[in-house]
Amino acid sequence: MPHDAPSIDTLAHLSDHHGDFAAFRDLMLQTSAGRFGPIFWGVFDQYVRPRLPDAPRLLDVGCGPGGLFEPMRAHVPGSAIVGLEVQPAMLEAARERAAALGDVEIFEADLAAPLPLADASIDGAVASMVLHEMPYPVQLLRELGRVLKPGAPLLVFDWVRQPLAEYAGEDEMTPGLLQHFREHCLYTPEDLAYLCQLCGLQVLETVGRRGNRHAMLACVNGERL
Ligand SMILES: C[S@@+](CC[C@H](N)C(=O)[O-])C[C@H]1O[C@@H](n2cnc3c(N)ncnc32)[C@H](O)[C@@H]1O
Repeated sequence: MPHDAPSIDTLAHLSDHHGDFAAFRDLMLQTSAGRFGPIFWGVFDQYVRPRLPDAPRLLDVGCGPGGLFEPMRAHVPGSAIVGLEVQPAMLEAARERAAALGDVEIFEADLAAPLPLADASIDGAVASMVLHEMPYPVQLLRELGRVLKPGAPLLVFDWVRQPLAEYAGEDEMTPGLLQHFREHCLYTPEDLAYLCQLCGLQVLETVGRRGNRHAMLACVNGERL
């Protein structure tokens, strides 16, 4: 399948997970300052920044509405950013942000298919809150190993497993809540590390976030299991 032709299955799967696309886009924009706050940049500065060349080409995998673009540009001046996304409402918002910022390329791409990027063409990548949305993230991780330069850093940031009672908190128990629990809480941090390493991404450090509801994994491209 050509990489620029998103499969119906991917959009149907995302629609099932997100519900209303526009409302989810707005939620991602409202919450991005919290995701990309001091802890995110602390891990980024320790593990990603020192491995970047001057004027790096950085990849934002599943960029959503582009909430990472501006803080990334402020944090890594001179960087060129590539965003990959498939959902129409997200793409529209990401393109608006890219146009306002400049030097941001957006590709409409299904991450379940080969990425529309050349081998070893990326200096560093972030995958924020995207792996849990993929039925089979292994192919994406392998593709990241292909498009990242040898030794280039990847920061994975995602939901990780927690007890149902903690996940639900005060929320009403519903079929929708259980579905999100299955999707958000499938992997432990060790599972994510295992998947990364299986695909040739060496994990340097794992950091818990939000009381260990989320984890950040700092990886470098190299060393397949
Ligand atoms: C939870 S949002 C996070 C957005 C952004 N990374 C952030 O942290 O603000 C996950 C994004 O990944 C995208 N995504 C999930 N699966 C995808 C796929 N197979 N191909 C392309 N994009 C995908 C979704 O459309 C959504 O915009």
